[in-house]
Amino acid sequence: MCGIVGYVGTRQAAPILLDGLSRLEYRGYDSAGIAVRDEENEHVEVVKAKGRLKNLMEMTDSGHAVRGTCGVGHTRWATHGEPSTINAHPHYSREKRVVVVHNGIIENYQDIKDMLVRKGYAFRTQTDTEAAALLLDSYYTEAGKKGLGPRERALDAIRNMMIRVRGSYALGILFGDQPGVMYATRKDSPLIIGRCDGEMRGHMIASDVPAVLSYTRNVVYIDNLEIACLTQEEMRVYNIDCEQIDKAFVEIKWDAASAEKDGYEHFMIKEIHEQPRAVRDTLSPRIKEREDGQKCLDLSELELPDEELAGVSRVYLIGCGSAYHVGTAARTVIERLAHIPCEVDLASEFRYRDPILEPRGLVIIISQSGETADSLAALRLCRERGMRTLAIVNVVGSSIAREADAVMYTWAGPEISVATTKAYSTQLAAIYLIATKLAAVRGQISPEREQQLIEDMLALPDKIERVLSDKERVQWYANKMAACKDVFFIGRGLDHAISLEGSLKLKEISYIHSEAYAAGELKHGTISLIEDGVLVVGVATQPDLFEKVVSNMVEVRSRGAYLFGLTTYGQYAIEDTVNFTVYVPRTEPLFATSLAVVPLQLLAYYISCAKGLDVDKPRNLAKSVTVE
Ligand code: G6P
Repeated sequence: MCGIVGYVGTRQAAPILLDGLSRLEYRGYDSAGIAVRDEENEHVEVVKAKGRLKNLMEMTDSGHAVRGTCGVGHTRWATHGEPSTINAHPHYSREKRVVVVHNGIIENYQDIKDMLVRKGYAFRTQTDTEAAALLLDSYYTEAGKKGLGPRERALDAIRNMMIRVRGSYALGILFGDQPGVMYATRKDSPLIIGRCDGEMRGHMIASDVPAVLSYTRNVVYIDNLEIACLTQEEMRVYNIDCEQIDKAFVEIKWDAASAEKDGYEHFMIKEIHEQPRAVRDTLSPRIKEREDGQKCLDLSELELPDEELAGVSRVYLIGCGSAYHVGTAARTVIERLAHIPCEVDLASEFRYRDPILEPRGLVIIISQSGETADSLAALRLCRERGMRTLAIVNVVGSSIAREADAVMYTWAGPEISVATTKAYSTQLAAIYLIATKLAAVRGQISPEREQQLIEDMLALPDKIERVLSDKERVQWYANKMAACKDVFFIGRGLDHAISLEGSLKLKEISYIHSEAYAAGELKHGTISLIEDGVLVVGVATQPDLFEKVVSNMVEVRSRGAYLFGLTTYGQYAIEDTVNFTVYVPRTEPLFATSLAVVPLQLLAYYISCAKGLDVDKPRNLAKSVTVE
């Protein structure tokens, strides 16, 4: 949700800013802008463009036309104010005394605006960010009267702004009269600092690691309510009382190449193909071989003692989007294996429903980015209520990872495509590990069953590979169906969870209206929408529910639906009912989601391609949703 990049150093800033922004476009792409301080002419140049980053690149000759070595850049996902050039960041005060780029929402911007208008400030845009820029200007002016030095004056202004503002923010800030200095601060929106060495010596700021990876692997995570002051030579970080604090650099292990397309046409198809590797990387470090050759789970990283896990009375699964769909599947897996009652919630609903939480409950927050505002708020609510919290997160060092009591990282690697695929699959793998562990410590499964489950987990990557090897069939079918207007996905139990994800993938990137229904629920209303030619995808991987789902498919077929069946090899009876079938390898039925989701990802992908859409950056969406 909006991407920020900043650079101060020895090199020309604008090309670095634009390159960094190109790695953050997944966060928003309504408009983009940069502000660079031209030291020779002693002014800050601001260039903005509506639409994709490439427009800004064209206007500035990929940044080469903008002089100066200190600047900030932004790619926007509009919240307040339509996507337009004027509303694009950076925003600034009179004569560009204060220039800011912002990710987040200033909730009390109207109050601040009213107060500043009374003081004589004029607003040019409809954004909440401009209120922060002008508020900083007003505090900077006041601080100037206190006879403070430039740095103290800036810190004083930033600190006062932080106290006055409500909401969430990551801010990159330039003061027009401070050449070669960049400031940054954050609350509830991510921001990192990168240190650049050698011929581009200096510092960067960014909303996410890929923006800095071509330049450095040494990063510092700015914590909530900290302020950074950066120059070519120096990095100083302060707390909100303006006291300097020590911060440690962390070395990023993955490299820039993992955030490249690697010859694939889109990030999404590359990431779909990375799923076997990603699932293997998530599972294998947590599965050890004992001396007797038997395999066992090692979840010691969670630092949750077995006795505590054995005593868990209820599991609360919380997430947004696809992470919520993982929670939906997890409920069935955990309840069936560990016999612990589970509740699954959308984070945005959970936080406002005043949930009743059992003291011996375990909260599992699922999030790829680890920054989703609602998921983070749900986590904090649970922690305030004294609950044990466990996060399943992909981005190392993200807010959710840092604030939860325990974290299980999914090793999907950087996921760039807005529509998640490999992160979703690794979240499922993490759930299988946790569910099996809970079942074992509670004595709900025999050692033999535990061994079998572990073997079945370890076999998943190869089976996903097999599903991928059949992708041309799905591609052929997708080309045929690209013109359809409505699609229904139906299934029962885990197959309903798969349907939810299949439907979301399709609507996200193909803009085709689609809905997922529990198959048995169709007849309570939705079946009235079925008419000649409507595509219904029936998911039937669960042996105990196979016949029930097929019966529901027969019901819609007799009302004219065109049927796509998705089941496991061996269930050939489905062909009597459906028009087109995709089979996935057999596995432990509780793990079938990992295989069945793949053809649905491919279906959405190929339909989007057939329609000529922007697969990786679908309209109106952003990958990291850091606003409510
Ligand atoms: C956005 C993304 C989805 C993702 C959801 C939750 O909507 O487009 O793919 O599932 O956010 O994100 P998280 O990072 O918390 O998993």
